[in-house]
Amino acid sequence: MARQTSDSLAHADGGPHPQAALRAGPCHVAIIMDGNGRWATMRGRPRLFGHHAGAKRVREIVEACPDLGVKYLTIFAFSTENWKRTQVEVAGLMSLFRRYITREARQLRDEGVRVRFIGDRVRLDDKLVSLMDELELITSQNDRVHLTIALNYGGRDEVARATKRLAQDVALGRLNPKDVDEETLPKYLDTCVLPDPDLVIRTSGEARISNFLLWQSAYAEYEFVDTLWPDFSRDEFARLLHAYGARDRRFGAVTA
Ligand code: FPP
Repeated sequence: MARQTSDSLAHADGGPHPQAALRAGPCHVAIIMDGNGRWATMRGRPRLFGHHAGAKRVREIVEACPDLGVKYLTIFAFSTENWKRTQVEVAGLMSLFRRYITREARQLRDEGVRVRFIGDRVRLDDKLVSLMDELELITSQNDRVHLTIALNYGGRDEVARATKRLAQDVALGRLNPKDVDEETLPKYLDTCVLPDPDLVIRTSGEARISNFLLWQSAYAEYEFVDTLWPDFSRDEFARLLHAYGARDRRFGAVTA
């Protein structure tokens, strides 16, 4: 994908960018990539086959972001509850994450993607954690698209871990409880450097948020689509972003 100045919607020839109509589109999109297992089962294949197909879809959607005006993309790859799956599926997913990072690292770096991981790393194996650290490091100067991968992530777990750190700061006298307000806690969340999501998409027809970005999505818009994640296309993504542009976000206020 061609490089584009960050946040710019001007086309290379100076004319309006073809996606200028999406100027009002969401800056931060979060996606619950659901339906890999069903997609594979429908084809008579093991569930991991669906996860591999899902990983290919991640690349297509990340590549689409700059043209569609999406600066931040956050994807739910593995939840704190996904450990309840069979050992075969969990091990297969961990192996897929290692392979994905190894294979995609150079391309992500060269395409200006800044990668971050959110979630608790404590339960992840050392090899995977070192690959994650390395990918964050080699992409740390990038600013074209900010891709955040939620891995062993749960919204409640994140809030609990943040609260623990906040309480430690209080105990050490670094924070006065009187100063704790709704601006304070987000500074302790894994997402502290990210804007809140504007739009949360969930594929596969399920209409629930499954512990994803609970605090951050307080005022997000939601789209639940029937498409299974391995079938989710750039065109469908663009259509959802366009529909978002027509929404009236009031944040509890009244439209003037
Ligand atoms: C939910 O589908 C999907 C997951 C738990 C894993 C998501 C992982 C990927 C898309 C793989 C690649 C990701 C990266 C970052 C390389 P499901 O298994 O619950 O599907 P089902 O509801 O049909 O069973």
